Amino acid sequence: MRLTLAAVTEKPKTDWDVEAAISTYNVDGWGSDYFTVNAAGNAEVRPLQEGGGSIDILEVVNEARARRLGFPLVIRFQDLLRHRVEAVNRAFQSAMTEFGYRNHYRGVFPIKVNQLREVIEEIVDAGQEFHFGLEAGSKPELIAALAMHKDLESLIVCNGYKDRAYLRSAMLGRRLGKSVIIVVEKIEELQQTIRIARETGVEPHIGIRVRLHSKGSGKWTTSGGEDAKFGLDTANLVAASELLKAEGLAHCLKLVHFHVGSQVPDISTIKRAVREAARYYAKLSKLGHELGYLDVGGGLGVDYDGSRTSFDSSTNYTLQEYANDVVWNIMDVCDSEGVPHPAIVSEGGRAIVAHHSVLVVEAFGSIEKNANAAKVSGAEADHKLVADILEAQQKLRRNNRRETLHDAQQIKEEAQQLFSVGLLDLVSKAKIESVYWQLAQQIVTLHKGLRYVPEEVKELETSLSDQYICNFSVFQSLLDHWALGQLFPIMPIHRLDTAPDRNGTLVDITCDSDGKISKFIDLQDVRETLPLHQITNGEMYYLGVFMVGAYQDIMGDLHNLFGRVTEVHVFLDPDEESGWYIEEIIEGSTIGQVLALTQWDKIELMRLVKLQTDAAIKSDRLKPNDAMKLLADYERGLTEYTYLSLDEGQPVAVPRNGAAVPAL
Ligand SMILES: Cc1ncc(COP(=O)(O)O)c(C=O)c1O
Repeated sequence: MRLTLAAVTEKPKTDWDVEAAISTYNVDGWGSDYFTVNAAGNAEVRPLQEGGGSIDILEVVNEARARRLGFPLVIRFQDLLRHRVEAVNRAFQSAMTEFGYRNHYRGVFPIKVNQLREVIEEIVDAGQEFHFGLEAGSKPELIAALAMHKDLESLIVCNGYKDRAYLRSAMLGRRLGKSVIIVVEKIEELQQTIRIARETGVEPHIGIRVRLHSKGSGKWTTSGGEDAKFGLDTANLVAASELLKAEGLAHCLKLVHFHVGSQVPDISTIKRAVREAARYYAKLSKLGHELGYLDVGGGLGVDYDGSRTSFDSSTNYTLQEYANDVVWNIMDVCDSEGVPHPAIVSEGGRAIVAHHSVLVVEAFGSIEKNANAAKVSGAEADHKLVADILEAQQKLRRNNRRETLHDAQQIKEEAQQLFSVGLLDLVSKAKIESVYWQLAQQIVTLHKGLRYVPEEVKELETSLSDQYICNFSVFQSLLDHWALGQLFPIMPIHRLDTAPDRNGTLVDITCDSDGKISKFIDLQDVRETLPLHQITNGEMYYLGVFMVGAYQDIMGDLHNLFGRVTEVHVFLDPDEESGWYIEEIIEGSTIGQVLALTQWDKIELMRLVKLQTDAAIKSDRLKPNDAMKLLADYERGLTEYTYLSLDEGQPVAVPRNGAAVPAL
């Protein structure tokens, strides 16, 4: 249970309106003034917050559908990216002005958080006026950074383990006049850096990652602390200083770096780590190095659940508080040590890109436990247990509700055992289960509004919830949810002017039982189900998974060969009637493309199928014309999107458990 700043203000469903939707999904909490619900009941984004226009997300979805783009669909709001870059830079500027800090801020964007070229381009462009740079954590990222980086006043910070080629690329950057700083992770890397600097005739700019005693908090704690896999401990730090001096390169040490982990939820962790790192900075300066930069790494968190707490999916601080604490603590330590204030570098990635993209998925069916509301009546041929459970249902009253639940559970269990040994017929079993789920619903309803709801009834409510089948793969699009249980805000992007009448979990289309979302954001705790609307046959029901712009894009995998999803890049434009336009479409992977990644050659596949159709023609199982059509269909299949093609307007098949027993 978490303590929250805001009270839950869920409105009763009878007076449902758009405000009720905003409060039910806590949009004001996680939306950070970028997201809201408009009067039409659709999710709306304001990429520049108050400073610009708004975009109805359903309109973008409809436009994508009109252009025959496949779903799931990632929508990137490029202006929002720009806004985040400005917000981070201005927060540091404002903190420095307020405290009289005597140096400047030189942030960098860590490419690992979202490597898409268009994303990096937008960030570099927006960051130009602030001399905002890039951070690379690998050779490929550095190769991309060198090409993209143009402003010689901004930094390229090179993190991660490095080999010869990585270091040579960094030296190339120096030759081009760029401020490339090689952050060494271990002492051998420093020796190699010095060797390659001599070989290439380049005077390197060197940084050192210190292994702090302070550990992070949240899900990514192992990046920091004494057992971290990166960074130099104090003994190695002194050894590095001596090595540089011995080589006549003491002046090349420019930066002290640390990183305590991503998504740090608690500001006290940041304060502690910053003070410790500032102390290292000051002491190293006093050892005779002309340092100039203190790099506080990433970790600036994002409030995914909007609770403003130190819960893993939240942060108990704002961007401004973070900037204030970084600036003030560095200043305080440096002043006390009598060392000039360093330029401050930060590598916050999530805080720049998380908000800018939304994943839209189609919910196209639901599995409902209590779909069969029709009254069940007994028959002579029924097993005795049918009469028993019907009697329990008849006798259900408010004062015997838990006893009835226990009796019904016993009957259901007994029925299962008898069925397993062949002593219960199918119709009787169907009747018992139907009555059981009806009773379960009645018992849950009898607990509604009570101050105390027993755990077993809460569990019953969860198991009564529907499973909404959604056209996407958790493994491709929400890997951190599957792997680490990270929560993302999820809500329908339309129909929000009407009250959600169901509760559900989401299941994806992979053949994996882990392919589901059954944990949702909540102000108090973690919700097991999400309020949703009944899916109407023939109409698409779209759900938005928000704040997926950090890490999810690149870390997704090809489970079941569901490939990269299609994306559209949207820009605000007051000259357009809609106020926005789609600037770019990046088509998702085709079946042929994902097969090629696993060594299936398209031509070879065609050849193998052709051999089979030829054989079928020869043995008269196929007419030549039909065989040619089949072949053409197979070939066309290779060019299709890997996800389901669900056409709006066509009635959607809705598989329901209870519907299997219609005539009871
Ligand atoms: C060295 C380094 N810098 C920056 C980051 C970005 O962190 P975040 O996205 O949490 O700001 C990471 C990610 O873990 C990292 O390892």
